[in-house]
Amino acid sequence: MKTIKKIGVLTSGGDSPGMNAAIRAVTRTAIYRDLEVAGIRYGYQGAIEGDFIELKKLSVSNTIQKGGTILKSARSKDFLTVEGRKKAAENLRSQNIDALVVIGGDGTFQGATVMNQEHDFPIVGVPGTIDNDLSGTDETIGYDTALNTALEAIDKIRDTADAHERMFLVEVMGRDAGFIALETGIACGAELTLLPETLVHINEIKTTLKDILANKKRSTLVIVAEGDESGGAIKLQNSIKDDFADIDMRVCVLGHIQRGGNPTARDRVLASRLGVAAVNALLDGHVSVMVGIVNNNIKLTPLKSGWGKKKSIQMEMLDLVKILK
Ligand code: F6P
Repeated sequence: MKTIKKIGVLTSGGDSPGMNAAIRAVTRTAIYRDLEVAGIRYGYQGAIEGDFIELKKLSVSNTIQKGGTILKSARSKDFLTVEGRKKAAENLRSQNIDALVVIGGDGTFQGATVMNQEHDFPIVGVPGTIDNDLSGTDETIGYDTALNTALEAIDKIRDTADAHERMFLVEVMGRDAGFIALETGIACGAELTLLPETLVHINEIKTTLKDILANKKRSTLVIVAEGDESGGAIKLQNSIKDDFADIDMRVCVLGHIQRGGNPTARDRVLASRLGVAAVNALLDGHVSVMVGIVNNNIKLTPLKSGWGKKKSIQMEMLDLVKILK
C-alpha cells in the first residue's frame, strides 16, 4: 500500500454546524502527523474542477465556533457520472493527494464508496449532517445544534401560540428521517409529533387533535417532520382545516435556519474527535470506512453500511410524546 504523505479534505452535501470544527481537526491532526493537507472547495465538484487550496495550521484558526463550511459545499451532479469521478481521481493524483477525508451525509458517502471502488482511492468519511440518519454513529455532526436551533424557535412559537390560544403546525427538517422532529417534540412538550418512521392515518391525527382540544389546552403544538407521509405542515393544514374551522391554526416551516449558527459544545467536541479519528484511520490503512462514535467510543464502519442501512429511531421515545403531552 502506498504511504500517505498528503491528504485532501472536503465537505459535501447539505452543510451542518460543526463541519468547520471537523476540517480544523483533520487539518491539525494531519500536520501533527507530518502530512500535507489540501482543502478541496465545493465538495466533489471542486475535485473535478481542480479547486484546491493548501491548508496550514493557521488556515483553520478561528473556525471552530463558526457555522457553515470554510471549504464551501455543493451537491455535485458531475460526480454522479463515471467521467466526473475519473476527472476527480486524475486531479487528486496530479496534486499528489494520496487519500481523502470527506465530511457529509449519505449522498457524500455513496459517492465516496463508488470512487473508492472505481479508482482504488483511500477515503474515510466523517458523518456531518443535521439529519442524524447515518448508521454507525450515535450522532452526526450538526444534529445537536440543529435540534437546539429548532427548539429555541419552537419555544418562541409556544409563547405566541399561548397568547392567542392557537394551534401551530411546525415543520422541521430531516429529509426522510424523523430524529429532529422526535427530539424537538419531546423537548418542547409538543402535543403531537409526526414522523416519517410511523404511519399515522389522517383520521387518527384529527381524533388526537380533537381530544387535545377537548381537554381545553390553551395552545397546541404539532411538530411535523418534513418527510412525514402527511406531506409536511402546509399539506397537513390543508388536509385537516375543514374539521377545525373554529380553531385559529397557523403553520410555520422552520427551514434552513436549522442548518446554520454556531455549533454547540457537543457538536464541536464530536467534530474534533471524529476529525482526529479520520486521519488516524487513514494512517492505520483503512481505505473505505466511516468514523463514528458509539457509546462514547470511536467506531469504524464500512462506508457502505453508513448509507446503505437506515438508522432506526427508538420507538419508546415516541411513547414519551404521547405520555407527556
Ligand atoms: O440533509 C440536510 C438537509 O437540510 C435536509 O434536512 C433537507 O431535507 C435538505 O438538506 C435540504 O436540502 P437543500 O438545502 O439542498 O434544499
